[in-house]
Amino acid sequence: MRIGFDVVGNIAILKFDRGVSVPAKRKFAVDYLAKHKGVMTVLEKTGKFSGRLRTLKTKWLAGDKTLEALYRENGCEFRFNVETCYFSPRLSEERKNVASFVKRGERVLVMFGGVAPFSIVIAKNSLAREVYSVELGKEPSRYALENVKRNKLIGKVHVIQGDVRRVIGNGKKVNGIFDRVVMSRPNLEDDFLDVSFRVVKKGSIIHYYGFYLEDEVNNLRDMILSRANESKKKVKILRIVKAGDVGARKFRYRADVKVL
Ligand SMILES: C[S@@+](CC[C@H](N)C(=O)[O-])C[C@H]1O[C@@H](n2cnc3c(N)ncnc32)[C@H](O)[C@@H]1O
Repeated sequence: MRIGFDVVGNIAILKFDRGVSVPAKRKFAVDYLAKHKGVMTVLEKTGKFSGRLRTLKTKWLAGDKTLEALYRENGCEFRFNVETCYFSPRLSEERKNVASFVKRGERVLVMFGGVAPFSIVIAKNSLAREVYSVELGKEPSRYALENVKRNKLIGKVHVIQGDVRRVIGNGKKVNGIFDRVVMSRPNLEDDFLDVSFRVVKKGSIIHYYGFYLEDEVNNLRDMILSRANESKKKVKILRIVKAGDVGARKFRYRADVKVL
């Protein structure tokens, strides 16, 4: 039996191969619970993250009947509902990496902020002046605000609920120039790069995440250069690095783009 695991604090989310019986899943879940002290709930992942809000479908298998996780990483604490809020513990190293790039006094914009993990890890682990977290979903935005309070970052991390296309730019809620933009995108068609180009200046850095097969990663480079051209920006792609795997031969890549 092959089983995929994601543990978010008190909740373990298991993904079974097709054909595993319900009693076998339940037995595995009960045994898992007994062996892992911090885990209080075991859920089965019954679908993939889907839709614009990247929500998840699960089924209860064992332990406390809750969907609310309390999870810690990089010296920060997050509470969220595992079905209504996208969250990937696999990005924790990536969040630490990005925080380490941030220099004193920077204004940072995190698009697709979710429950604000990138924003909070950056604010806690760098000398950024302020961080904006923009998220479409009402429910993740509510948790984002709770998490900002929980990590004592009121006034430093600003949570804005709305579509990045509608709330970012001149005369909008999120305006002015940013030194750094983090684009931990949902896996959707729209690359949203034109939105970032509205709020950057010479020297700003954009961290752009995309999903590509290894032999197609050059398409990422070409796409970024072509979008920059359309927005009349000159850019240099400093590096493209793997930031986790997302399926058969497919990887999450991060492109660090400098505005010239
Ligand atoms: C891949 S997740 C990234 C979440 C977060 N950065 C993290 O690391 O946990 C994508 C998030 O983007 C949000 N989203 C999708 N389209 C959006 C849009 N147009 N404007 C703002 N947020 C959006 C979804 O609701 C979801 O929470």
